[in-house]
This record gives sequence, structure tokens and C-alpha cells, in this order.
Amino acid sequence: MKRKTIIATGCIIAFLGIVSCSVHTETCQEIDANKMLKYCDTQIRQTLSQLGNDSCLLPRSIPNDSQKWGTINAYDWTSGFWPGILWYDYQNTGDEFIKSQASRYTEYLTVLLQPEHQGDHDLGFQFLCSFVNGYRLTGNDAYKKIALAGADKLARFYHPKVGTICSWAHMREKMGWPHNTIMDNMMNLELLFWAAKNGGNKAYYDMAESHARVTMEHQFRKDYTSYHVAIYDTVNGNFIKGVTNQGCSDESFWARGQAWAIYGYTMVYRETGDKTFLDFAEKITDVYLERLPADYIPYWDFDAPGIPHEPKDASAAAIVASGLLELSQLENDPQKSKTYFMAAEKMLASLSSESYKSGDNKPAFLLHSTGNYPAGYEIDAAINYADYYYIEALTRYKKITSN
Ligand code: GLY
Repeated sequence: MKRKTIIATGCIIAFLGIVSCSVHTETCQEIDANKMLKYCDTQIRQTLSQLGNDSCLLPRSIPNDSQKWGTINAYDWTSGFWPGILWYDYQNTGDEFIKSQASRYTEYLTVLLQPEHQGDHDLGFQFLCSFVNGYRLTGNDAYKKIALAGADKLARFYHPKVGTICSWAHMREKMGWPHNTIMDNMMNLELLFWAAKNGGNKAYYDMAESHARVTMEHQFRKDYTSYHVAIYDTVNGNFIKGVTNQGCSDESFWARGQAWAIYGYTMVYRETGDKTFLDFAEKITDVYLERLPADYIPYWDFDAPGIPHEPKDASAAAIVASGLLELSQLENDPQKSKTYFMAAEKMLASLSSESYKSGDNKPAFLLHSTGNYPAGYEIDAAINYADYYYIEALTRYKKITSN
């Protein structure tokens, strides 16, 4: 009897061992978020010392063969990302020095409100990452007022006949595109949603929702891959055609464009609660996940002719990882939630590996992003927006896993 019990117990232990092993295999990508956030903090402090105390220039990118940040002023489309990185670091460390740097760089962006600065859809990235993050963490009312004024400026590009924001007004003459909307613009709807519920014009909610619906209708192919740019007629509001600016060709599947869409439609579902957007976010995610290489970091364009010898785009992976962490939390279906969470975890694990970390080599967090391949610009570089969405994703991951 006793022997039988011992054998049975042994079998149960062995069985549990196998189960726990397979569970472990499923979650073996688990990331030490605290360790990676500490790594980010170290890189940030190196960047600050490289920039110097009185610099009003912000870091944008580091070419593959350099260790030094190329810098920009507040008018560059990426200017919000560095203050945003500092705000996330402050959120994670509570360090007053980092907070003072986040405030300093955020406040440089006030010049974007000058009437002589026209701006474009990127005002969304610029004000959201800097002032909205700053307001979220400090409650500083001045930041809220500035961000609301930024939303007013962004909303001026909304075209009621088309129902979307014109992303690049300057392309009207340069390219002959009467009204153009780029996929990246999905991200900037968040500033309009935020303004509508924080004392700004309530009509901004409707504008943002309309933009998302019109884009959903026209800017995706039947297989749910996206066009970078949609061109519309301003007289009748009709869609004319889809083209590219930063992808391989008009019909190719540009990785970061889809990344902006995945993150953007997840955010639109969070803001509206409309299941149409959830369903759409899933479909555009699934086609992206199906085409990923083994390490879950896409090539800069899924249709680039030289794959597997094409540059990767770590920025797209960081954007998608952050978006999917949110999507996994918004899902009611446990299986879908798990699928998206685990995909995000794999992306973060790759980005956090020696293959993608800058480490001691450069003060950025991540290597191997591609900014604008057709223009020959920022190819296989460290880029500030990759770092921004990486630290945001780590912060989200830490919150989810600690719960
Ligand atoms: N928003 C510009 C880009 O993704 O390159």
C-alpha cells in the first residue's frame, strides 16, 4: 500500500513537473522589467551628460557608425519623444533630477504654439509625449493648458468633407496631393481624445472618431495591410488612391505604418469602447504577427526585396509591443489576451537582448531602427521614438506583471 502511494505520488510529481515545464516554456520569454528600466535610466543619464546642462537641443538619432546623438530643435517632428522618455524614467524612478530635466525639455516645446509655426499632424506626438505625460505625472495646470492649445492647433487640419486630418499640408503643392492622411496620424488622435475629456472642445472626440473610421474604410487593403498615405479629393471627399512615402512601394507592407495602425486602433478602442475598432485592431495585428521573422522584429518593409538581408526596424517592434500590451488588457477573450500579451513579451525579449540593446556602445536604449529607407535616412540607426515606445512598453509590462 505504502509503496503504491509512493509510486503514485512520484507519478503526480513527475506529471506536475512536465506541466510546469511546458508552462515555463510558454513564458520563458519573461523579462526582468526592473532590470531593463534600470538600464534605460543609465542610458538616459549618459545622454544627459552628452547633451550638456545648457543644451536646448534634443537627441534624435545615432547612426550605426557613431556614438553621438544627432540633435534637433523643438520644431522637429520627433521633439516630444525625449521629454517623454524622461517622464517615463521619472515615473519609474521618482528621481527629482530626472523630473527637472523632463520639465526643462518639455517646456522647450512651448514654441510650437507660436502663431508663425504652422506645424502639422505631428503636433499630436509632440504635445502628447511631453506636456500630456508631464501633466499626468505632476498635475501641473500650465502643462494642461499648453496641451489643450496644442490640440486646438492640431484640430485645424481636420477637413470636414473628407472626415480626416490632413497630415502633410506642404505635400499639396509638392506632390499634388489635395488632402493626404498618413497612417502615422492615427497616433495623434489621442491628443484630440485627451483634449475632449480634459476641458477642451468636445467636438474633437467626433473628429478623432471620424478620422479612425474613414482611415479604416480606405487606407487598408483587403488583407488588412496598410497604405502609408491615403489621398482624398477635397471637393467631394472621395478617396483617390493609396501611395507610400517611406515604404518600399505603393503596394508594399511598410512595417512602421502597420505599427502605428496597431497602436492607434487599440487606443481608439480604449477611448470609444466601440467593438468595431477592437475587431479591426485584432485583424491588423494578426496579419502583422503572421509575417514576422523568428525574433519578432520586422524588416523595415515586409515586402523589401532583399529579405533576409534588409535592415530591421526595432522602432516598429517597440511601438507594436507597447500597443499589444494595451490590447491584451482590453480583451475580454482570455485566449486573445494571452496571445497578444505573449507576442508583446517576445518582442520585448528580443529588444532587450544583446542583439538589439545599445549597451555601452551608445547612450540610446535600442539599435537597428530604420527611419526613412527610400530617402537613405536613419537606416539601421538608434532613434528616439524606438526608445520612447520601448520604455513605455516596459512600464506597461511591469504594471501588468506586478498585478
Ligand atoms: N511618423 C514618421 C515615421 O514614422 O517615420
